[in-house]
Amino acid sequence: MINVGIIGFGTVGTGTAKILLENKSVISERIGFDINLKKIADLDIKKSRGIKLPEGILTANADEILNDPEINIVIELIGGIHPAKELILKAIRNKKHVVTANKALIATEGNEILAEAEKHGVEVGFEASVAGGIPIIKIMKEGLVANRIMAVYGIINGTSNYILTKMTDEGIEFSDALKEAQRLGYAEADPTYDIEGIDSAHKLAILASLAYNIPFSFNDVYKEGITRITSQDIGFAGELGYKIKLLAIAKASDGKVELRVHPTMVPKDYLISKVDGVFNAIYVQGDAVGDTLYYGRGAGDMPTGSAVVSDIVDIGKKIVRSQESGVRSKEAVQIPRSKLKVKGIEDIEAMYYFRFTAFDKPGVLSSISGVLGSYNISITSVIQKGRSLGEAVPLIVLTHTAKEKDVIKAVAEIDRLSVVADKTLYIRVEGKEE
Ligand code: NDP
Ligand code: HSE
Repeated sequence: MINVGIIGFGTVGTGTAKILLENKSVISERIGFDINLKKIADLDIKKSRGIKLPEGILTANADEILNDPEINIVIELIGGIHPAKELILKAIRNKKHVVTANKALIATEGNEILAEAEKHGVEVGFEASVAGGIPIIKIMKEGLVANRIMAVYGIINGTSNYILTKMTDEGIEFSDALKEAQRLGYAEADPTYDIEGIDSAHKLAILASLAYNIPFSFNDVYKEGITRITSQDIGFAGELGYKIKLLAIAKASDGKVELRVHPTMVPKDYLISKVDGVFNAIYVQGDAVGDTLYYGRGAGDMPTGSAVVSDIVDIGKKIVRSQESGVRSKEAVQIPRSKLKVKGIEDIEAMYYFRFTAFDKPGVLSSISGVLGSYNISITSVIQKGRSLGEAVPLIVLTHTAKEKDVIKAVAEIDRLSVVADKTLYIRVEGKEE
């Protein structure tokens, strides 16, 4: 039997406890031993969580879990950096294995945590930290272990995908879609992490570490959110045959790796374009396996609990095996050791969508296209709708592949033109070049 203790009895803690209690016999039948939920710690042990617990299981003191010699695995589900980090380090130093759903912590402090776990010969499982119920960590670590990973493209923030889907389907503006996401409880009370790409960047840092065997590199991820996208951009993207998605991209490129989160135009007929609402999906391209796609619920008590329990079972199996054989598992933690460098955003190449806000008068298009041409940025399509002589109107330009460093310079120059009334917005475009 394996004893576990949960610290943090909120959304994910409750889902995890429910699964461990209600599916106990199903899990035991599959794995051949019992997982016993011995203790749950939370700051508030009076609040009803809609779940019937065995007598005496709740405690307000996390140390009762961390110092209990019978507990094999500590499950951290409080979120945030502090005191989650200190609790995890204490568990590790007490020779307990750890399972966490804490993407922010793993993405920013994971290198230190894994090093400490290696030192003490224990495991750290973080399946639930990326894409909730989709077992993407296991897929990257095991299912695709034979592959060089060419690229990973993920819709890994449900809130922003819900907002973009609402804007696309109903033509509403960002602020109204965000309010709806908050009303339905998808967005955080402070949704900054969701809409500014930070949550996706945490998850991308974790995925990229597994894909490219590099340390967790959250600070090196380029982050851009969806707050500047208008329903007009979504409409123009549609006319051009694209959908706008907040993509988290990790890509092998010229001996380096690109790590970026930004709104991206994706051809409408690509499967990932059809991932709508709060759903998540991750496309992984390996050199042996080719194209693969994983889809499911990226959040919520039960999907995330499902991922937490899968880590508990994996670690539990190793503990039981080593108890039976008397030999401790050697592959306790996989420390990423590649020295592969991350490419700066200015060094990438992509196709681009530009929304210029220009005064509607003769010669404007040639002024703008002249600047683009002088930076080797070649145009594939232009859209300008309606006539409002002398007024500022959107002028949409789609380009062939260009260098981001040229785009940065060209936009700076165009935004200084007297015919341009507002800051230019640009969106990177994925897909095959026409
Ligand atoms: P919640 O806020 O719902 O739950 C956290 C719980 O931990 C709360 O009950 C909180 O109490 C309690 N807590 C806070 N500090 C302590 C402490 N020092 N000791 C004991 N208990 C404490 O968060 P979630 O369940 O939503 O998230 C948990 C983790 O899972 C986070 O890292 C999150 O990023 C991750 N995650 C969440 C998903 C989701 O769908 N919710 C999906 C994927 C990952 P109080 O409320 O009183 O502060
Ligand atoms: N806020 C996150 C999301 C929760 O919207 O995807 C799951 O990590």
